[in-house]
Parts: sequence; structure tokens; C-alpha cells
Amino acid sequence: AAAQMNFQTMEHPAPMPIDQRTQVLLTPGFGTQFTDHMVSIEWSDTRGWHNGVIGPRHPIQLDPAAAVLHYAQEIFEGLKAYRHPDGTAALFRPEANAKRFNDSARRMAMPELPEEMFLEAIRLLVEKDNGWIPEEEGSSLYLRPFMFASEAFLGVRPAKRYKFLVIASPAGNYFKSGAPAVSIWVSSDYTRAAPGGTGAAKCGGNYAASLVPQAEAIERGHDQVVFLDAAERKWIEELGGMNLFFVFDDGRVLTPALTGTILPGITRNSLITLLREEGLTVEEGRYSLEQWREDATTGKLVETFACGTAAVVTAVGRVSGHDGEFTIGTGGPGQLTQKMKDRLTGIQRGLVADSHGWVKKL
Ligand code: COI
Repeated sequence: AAAQMNFQTMEHPAPMPIDQRTQVLLTPGFGTQFTDHMVSIEWSDTRGWHNGVIGPRHPIQLDPAAAVLHYAQEIFEGLKAYRHPDGTAALFRPEANAKRFNDSARRMAMPELPEEMFLEAIRLLVEKDNGWIPEEEGSSLYLRPFMFASEAFLGVRPAKRYKFLVIASPAGNYFKSGAPAVSIWVSSDYTRAAPGGTGAAKCGGNYAASLVPQAEAIERGHDQVVFLDAAERKWIEELGGMNLFFVFDDGRVLTPALTGTILPGITRNSLITLLREEGLTVEEGRYSLEQWREDATTGKLVETFACGTAAVVTAVGRVSGHDGEFTIGTGGPGQLTQKMKDRLTGIQRGLVADSHGWVKKL
């Protein structure tokens, strides 16, 4: 069947960065270390998906005219493998990533990858690099599947050749500071995604567009940027790589609705389910910056948190924009933020029962 791929295997053992004293795998923050294997599969218009390899992680050769380098036809995913107390490894909702990957592929005029092939590629890599899954709380093996146009052609049209790769990176805290709550800067000069654009696709271009406003946030002493909608510059959308939740004093929770300009986060989706199980009312709707400021000031809004695969659940403590600054709650993580973080990571790490079938043991 088309979904079957016979992967060629090559061995490539390399030393892991281990603390010599404790013998624990070193995980310095996010995205700096990589395991010693990778998966690659190729696609061409004449052969479809072919040449699946799990082998040594190595630099890739690209023709200088490769379409991705010129017109950014590229998509990616992010998911994590966790070490469970019984020593096994588990993935969290990998099918959701496989499905979203293909949603992104369609938006970027790229070929879809059979979900089974996506999942098999991830499983193979995690099996091979199993020893790289860190055990400490807050750490995991971050998996990065991605696909790009490799055809050498400068005309503007969907490419006829692509590469799909998966790499893995032992990861700790996404935020360097490790602070209990992050502060965010409201971008008024830049937006992330416009109606009809690519905001709902996980394509590299969306993240490239966030870099200048993100740099502006850092320059002003904040951790992250928050974007407003492009049409009215009024409604809160999301951060540079995380979705947002707002918690009110009456037990209501609000998260911006998926209108096409927001990345449909798998963490976001999981939290909506978990919050409802807590008996809370979760609305997907819209929330203005003005209302956010007013509700934080009157105390009607008690917590705000950001969420994503990389950032997990992170409290937002302070918000600044051109019109001044406001603090949320005490400025530190609120009760519900902490509870939902513990609940979600408990399920992911095999410490709390998974009643949803989200956890996929290897
Ligand atoms: C994630 O995996 O959570 C992302 O959205 C990618 C990036 C922000 C690290």
C-alpha cells in the first residue's frame, strides 16, 4: 500500500552529553542539542514517497536553486517523547500532529504524507534514540518533523520534489529565564497573520514574520510578543509560538477561537478538554486588548496562561504595550495555571491516568 515505507537503517552511535558526576543527560534549555540519528523520506511527482532512511544525522545537500530557499515552501511539527516511570517511552497525541501536518501541507501546496508513514518515522527515531529521552521533570525529547521543497527551480509554482525529515532534540525549559511567569509585549506595529493568509498552517514563514516583533519584545525587556488581529488590531490572537487562555473569577475560561489566523495548538485543544473536565466553562471566542486590560485591573480576570508543545503551560504575569502596562493577578502563576500544567504533564509523563487515549507508548 502507498502508506508503507521500507526504511533503510544505518547505525551511528555517538556519545551523549552526560553529566560525568550524576550520569544524567544534560538538557540545556531548548533546541541546542540533537540526537545522532534522523529520518528522511523523499517525494517526487513521478515516484511519490520513496527512499525512506533512518540513519546518521548529517548535513543535507541542497541545490542553491532549491525552491524552499527562495519561496519558503516549508512546514513543520513539534511533539515530544516522554520517559515514563516504568522506563518506557511515550508520545503525546502524535496522530494529531500527523493530521495537522497534512493540513499545513495542503495550505502550502505540498504533497500529503500518509499519517501512518509520519507516525512510523517518529516511532523509528524515538526507538533508535531512546537513550536520549531525558528523565528529569520538565524535560523530554522534542521531535521536529518537517518538509521542504527541494526541487531546483525558480519559477513560482508548487515544487515537484520534497524532502521530509525528522530530527530529535533533548529539551528542558523553553524559556531561558526559567521564570515562573513570563512578561509579554503587545505588538502594535506588526501582525502575525491576516484573514486568508497562512496563520493556521505550521509553516516556517509564520515564525520568520514573528522575529522582528519578538526582538522588539526582548529589547523592551519582555519574554514574548502577543499579536492582535490584522483586520481591526483589536482582538488578541496568540504569542509568537503559543496559544493563550484567559481565566475569570467566575470560573469561565476563554481562548481565542480558531478563525483561520491562529495556529490550532494540540496543547490548546487538550487543555480545553481538561478544563471542561474540571467543571469549567471554556469559550472559544474573541477578547480585546482593551477588555483584557480592564478585566485585569478590576480583578475580573484572575489568570492568563500561554501554552504550546515547546512551552507547555506558562503563566503570563505582566503585559506591556504602547499604552502602558498591567499585571495579571499577583504577577506569578495562578492556581488554575499550575493545576492544568500539573495535570497535562502528569498525563504526558505517565503519572496521571490517561482517560483520553492521548498517550501512545512506543
Ligand atoms: C512548539 O513546538 O510548541 C512550537 O510551536 C514551535 C516553536 C515555538 C518552538
